[in-house]
Amino acid sequence: MNFSYGDNLRVLNDINLTIKQGQTLGVIGTIGSGKTTIANLLLKLYDVEDNKIFIGGTDINKINTKNLRDNFCYITQENFLFSTTIKENINLFDDSFEEDNILESIEKSAFKDDLTNMPDGIEQIIGEKGITLSGGQKQRVAIARAFLFNKNFVIFDDTFSAVDNKTEKIILENLKQLLKNKTAIIISNRISDVKIADKIIVLDQGKIIQQGTHEELIACDGLYRDFYIEQSSNMYLKDI
Ligand SMILES: Nc1ncnc2c1ncn2[C@@H]1O[C@H](COP(=O)(O)OP(=O)(O)OP(=O)(O)O)[C@@H](O)[C@H]1O
Ligand SMILES: [Mg+2]
Repeated sequence: MNFSYGDNLRVLNDINLTIKQGQTLGVIGTIGSGKTTIANLLLKLYDVEDNKIFIGGTDINKINTKNLRDNFCYITQENFLFSTTIKENINLFDDSFEEDNILESIEKSAFKDDLTNMPDGIEQIIGEKGITLSGGQKQRVAIARAFLFNKNFVIFDDTFSAVDNKTEKIILENLKQLLKNKTAIIISNRISDVKIADKIIVLDQGKIIQQGTHEELIACDGLYRDFYIEQSSNMYLKDI
């Protein structure tokens, strides 16, 4: 499929992509290559022509938008937080979750230690008592939502960029468990995030220029291997 925002330049070019149920797709690529656009289209945030995107064999335009979104957990790139408690930022104002489950999701998203510095714990209101969150802390609060909501479809868009490597590793281990029987997309510019995927696509200027598993992609010349070499030589990313 192709896609443009309004009359602007084409953003997705000849994208032909299948994600098998229960599998994880990794999406890596250059800046502005259309990674977030793919996620936005799957959530029906923009209109597409009929018979271009199918979910479980059904044209996305025939799926009720609310039903569709109810089955997704989309951790967006901006990871917007509300000026309310940590708890409500994780349960998104849904009181039906048990506190234990919220605490468990906090542990899995590696936010537990941060919580000990908050005078009111999970009832801490962000922005009060001088409590502001760093970029990495905001990302981990957003990641906790994925563990709590436990949806069938999960999309992480650039969710680990501000998380340090050691913490990222812990979260990814927990994520592997969470994503076992789910259909998921991990969008990232870091090899260490997408390498856990069953299949990885490499995007450049709206086109899929490479696809395969991590092992396949590092074995051949191309942008993926360039990223790999660049990121493995970075002293902060020795663990790839
Ligand atoms: N709402 C929009 N209206 C018009 N153009 C847009 C819109 N959102 C994105 N674009 C353009 O579409 C292209 C792809 O954007 P997209 O956000 O999908 O890229 P990305 O790969 O996620 O980038 P990044 O690595 O910065 O997150 C870019 O050229 C961007 O400027
Ligand atoms: Mg993006």
